[in-house]
Amino acid sequence: MPSYVRAGELPPKRHIQFRRPDGELYAEELFSTKGFESAYSLLYHLRPPTATLDVKPWKRAAVELLPNEPLRNRHFKTAEIAAGKDAIEARTPVLANSDVLMSVSETADPMDYFYRNVGGDELLFIHRGKGTIQTPFGNLDYRARDYVLLPTGTTYKVLPESPTRMLVYESSGMITIPRKFRNDFGQLEEHAPYYERDFRAPELRAPIAKTGEYEVRVTNAGRNAVYTVQNHPCDVIGWDGYCYPYAFNLDEYAPVTGKLHQPPPSHATFEAPGAAFCAFVPRMFDYHPLAIPIPYNHSSVDCDEVLYYVSGNFMSRRGVEEGSITLHAAGAPHGPQPGAVEASLGKTSTDEIAVMVDTFAPLQIAKPALKVEDDEYYRSWVS
Ligand SMILES: [Fe+2]
Repeated sequence: MPSYVRAGELPPKRHIQFRRPDGELYAEELFSTKGFESAYSLLYHLRPPTATLDVKPWKRAAVELLPNEPLRNRHFKTAEIAAGKDAIEARTPVLANSDVLMSVSETADPMDYFYRNVGGDELLFIHRGKGTIQTPFGNLDYRARDYVLLPTGTTYKVLPESPTRMLVYESSGMITIPRKFRNDFGQLEEHAPYYERDFRAPELRAPIAKTGEYEVRVTNAGRNAVYTVQNHPCDVIGWDGYCYPYAFNLDEYAPVTGKLHQPPPSHATFEAPGAAFCAFVPRMFDYHPLAIPIPYNHSSVDCDEVLYYVSGNFMSRRGVEEGSITLHAAGAPHGPQPGAVEASLGKTSTDEIAVMVDTFAPLQIAKPALKVEDDEYYRSWVS
């Protein structure tokens, strides 16, 4: 997030005495990334966030991965994956490599514990539903088509108000706004498809002054633990900085359109180590009189392409449905299915919504995804 944000009450300088009305000191917390050398925030808690009463194992099933072998294009109908107990327990892994793990999660139920991933940033894409994500930075309301970015180490709890289905990307590093969209000062460039006003920071509420026993499930690159902490994690009176959770709704995305077909990098949203994210949203098609609106055949020889289909008419892709995930593997040719090019000619706009990630290391298939695989997808280009 390029912008500085401040919320609530803050002392005039960092690292100085800042006292509660009862005379006790607030507990300052530095929330920093890349050690002390990248984006950070300072939070002021009513009581220290360090008061750990107990640490127990979190017996979380390891993600079982299988190579994409024989190497081919694949299709997973993730709408068939059952809903789960809460937004974390419901996560069903689909694809992964050492840079990113992709899961789907569907639930109507609130978490009764906090969760913290300290192995990298998380990016949630809300397919359906609305609710609130409670964090020490405040409450971040979410709705359909939101991207929600949770920086490494964010403590949070997902509280759905309606059944919520989301796609989850767990990165091993930082997920950021692409460099090409930022100027030397970090500000979004004129040509960027979004603007600072499109991004929503959490709304800081009155600090929760409770003490007791609060469960925080912590995960870091496959190492897991359940912490019991004495002070409510959302006891923050104020914070400021550049590192915080935020949301951005795809309806605000202003897509680039052109005279001829625009390639996926024109539709970029975020980037992360080994991964480039983009989004396809309702837009006008190309305006050359002989333009072919849908993509050409191609083999992305150095990346795996993963599309998640959200809504609309997926014109170039046969057999996919809402919630489908297609994996177009590096080097495996793909493109419009037979008849799709002719059918697209003369169309002036599309209502499709899909989100994509390209990964530069080969993806592996998570075992649960095999249960919802359309095994014939790789043959779907045969006429
Ligand atoms: Fe492609």
